[in-house]
Amino acid sequence: MSFPRKQESSIQHIWGSEAIEARADGMMPAADEKAARALLDWYRAMGVDEAIGEEPVDHFAAADLKPAPRPAPEQRRAAPPPRAAPRAASASSTRGIGAEVSTLAELQELVARFEGCSLKRTAKNLCFARGSEQARIMMIGEAPGRDEDLQGKPFVGRAGQLLDRMLAAIGLSEEHVYITNTVYWRPPGNRTPTPEEIESCAPFLARQIELLSPSVLVLLGGAAAKTILGTSEGIMRLRGKWLSYSCAGRDLPILATLHPAYLLRNPEQKRLAWRDLLTLKAAIDS
Ligand code: URA
Repeated sequence: MSFPRKQESSIQHIWGSEAIEARADGMMPAADEKAARALLDWYRAMGVDEAIGEEPVDHFAAADLKPAPRPAPEQRRAAPPPRAAPRAASASSTRGIGAEVSTLAELQELVARFEGCSLKRTAKNLCFARGSEQARIMMIGEAPGRDEDLQGKPFVGRAGQLLDRMLAAIGLSEEHVYITNTVYWRPPGNRTPTPEEIESCAPFLARQIELLSPSVLVLLGGAAAKTILGTSEGIMRLRGKWLSYSCAGRDLPILATLHPAYLLRNPEQKRLAWRDLLTLKAAIDS
């Protein structure tokens, strides 16, 4: 707990600024010092242990936006400081983030330290990925839900269980796929992630695709399709046909399909998803 500087300045007002210096010099009259100590004891008893400014400070904003202080010349020559958490709110400032990491584990650490996506503040856990880093098939969904947030893994709830059954139907299991989402943290109340939230995670997702370097990318639902393909076209138009994504100098085949959560709500559409799965199977078997 802390008290505003106004309070401190009222001590100054009562005792005068010389009194504060005198107190430090041991020159304060005993009676005044006794009263000053009584006041400080009272603050301490009230839980005050820090002096703060008169204006409220948004420490989240301060941490995100304040430019790092320029190091003194001698510090600049010294060993580099530990890597700071990446800061970014706009695509332009995040572009290039992740280039310094060369493994998915390092990328996960980088994402864990990232403070530029507001979803992190309300989520319990980071949901980076599930499956195998050797997988040829990478799947991207929309956003973690409650179960994913609790377990820190994408697609482990009802939609994930349906996805697992769909994969099993074409002979695939967790060891054959690598699954992630357009955002790494659960949106509160399972709401749709905002374009800003998706944008803040996009550079990491692009690097994740690059590092995994799958043979095929499967986009689960409209949000993933819009994010990766950069289109406003609906999923019903995009699904079921081969598209491509330019990644590290090569064109990666993409197949968009319906989101398992949508299939739970609209089981009659499973026949479309089944067709898409057969298209996927034919490609990986060829
Ligand atoms: N829906 C998604 O899009 N992703 C998950 O991880 C879970 C449900």
